[in-house]
Amino acid sequence: MLQGKLITMDEFTIQETRKFPQATGELSSLLRDIALAGKVINKQVRKAGLSDILGTQGATNVQGEEQMKLDVLADQTLIHILKNSNDCAGIASEENDNHVCYEDTFSANSKYVVLFDPLDGSSNIDVNASIGTIFSIYRRVSELGKTCVEADFLQPGNKLMAAGYIIYGSSTMLVYATKLGVNGFTLEPSIGEFCLSHPNIKCPEMGKIYSLNQGNTNRFSEGMKAYLDYCMENNKEEGRPYSHRYIGSMVGDLHRTLIKGGIFMYPADKKSVKGKLRLQYECNPMAFIVEAAGGVASTGYCDILDVVPTELHQRVPIYIGSKKMIEKALEFVKEKEAVA
Ligand code: AHG
Ligand code: MN
Ligand code: MN
Repeated sequence: MLQGKLITMDEFTIQETRKFPQATGELSSLLRDIALAGKVINKQVRKAGLSDILGTQGATNVQGEEQMKLDVLADQTLIHILKNSNDCAGIASEENDNHVCYEDTFSANSKYVVLFDPLDGSSNIDVNASIGTIFSIYRRVSELGKTCVEADFLQPGNKLMAAGYIIYGSSTMLVYATKLGVNGFTLEPSIGEFCLSHPNIKCPEMGKIYSLNQGNTNRFSEGMKAYLDYCMENNKEEGRPYSHRYIGSMVGDLHRTLIKGGIFMYPADKKSVKGKLRLQYECNPMAFIVEAAGGVASTGYCDILDVVPTELHQRVPIYIGSKKMIEKALEFVKEKEAVA
């Protein structure tokens, strides 16, 4: 808000675009379409429990995970709205086996592709905890005027043009990042617009919270176990143990980490040897956002954004959040791994 005046996300993105005289406005227009999908999904989420959209769909997705009805509704909403957009050549979704190319002339002439996790944190849908939508926007590498190709969706995160998420929490927020920075917009229900509420978000260098599924500890590496001991000790930064918080929705856990600082981890373990979270739909967009806000995101060995994807539904371990906390965690993880 500026002097009591609401700034809508559209107004904000247009102002940002004007800083670049060569910009065509296509990225702003695509962000507007994604925000529209977010509003439609928000409407579905807010009615859950009243209409018959809680519970499972009775099918599994490409990754063998049970699909919830809202997963499928959110997926279809995004696919439909982006198909009707002038600025999207195709999409890839966590819920579908393959990417989808839009065949019409407008889409074939669009320079961007979008990847998304339509509804993150599905296991929280039926218990009314925060869930979200995560999206990534890449400039396609295939020829304009033709349909897109798989290589458009297998670009490393360091090629991202923009990424963001919509969190359906105690309020509904859209947070997006470009290389210019990270800004958050809260849905103002009376006008149906996302309005600037969190300008220029910075992830604090240090936080007080560690976040992971600690129930997996027996399957962790020795380095990871040693780091958890460190988190639970009276460590020298805090003089007390860190607090532990874990919702089980990456969007919810990462939104808190971005605003308050902290560390979020989903490491590889004996069961999920490559980690659990998906590089293109979850880790890259979140890494791009957190790094644009001054934080760090690593696989334990390299920057998440430098991983070159080889398949659409690839998984990676992730350590993400406040710079100093990630550096400390990586000391433990690397030191013990080197000895093992
Ligand atoms: P999704 O609902 O899109 O499948 O993602 C769930 C993810 C992520 O949001 C969360 O951080 C993680 O899975 C939780 O996994 P665990 O239940 O193994 O802790
Ligand atoms: Mn997810
Ligand atoms: Mn999902």
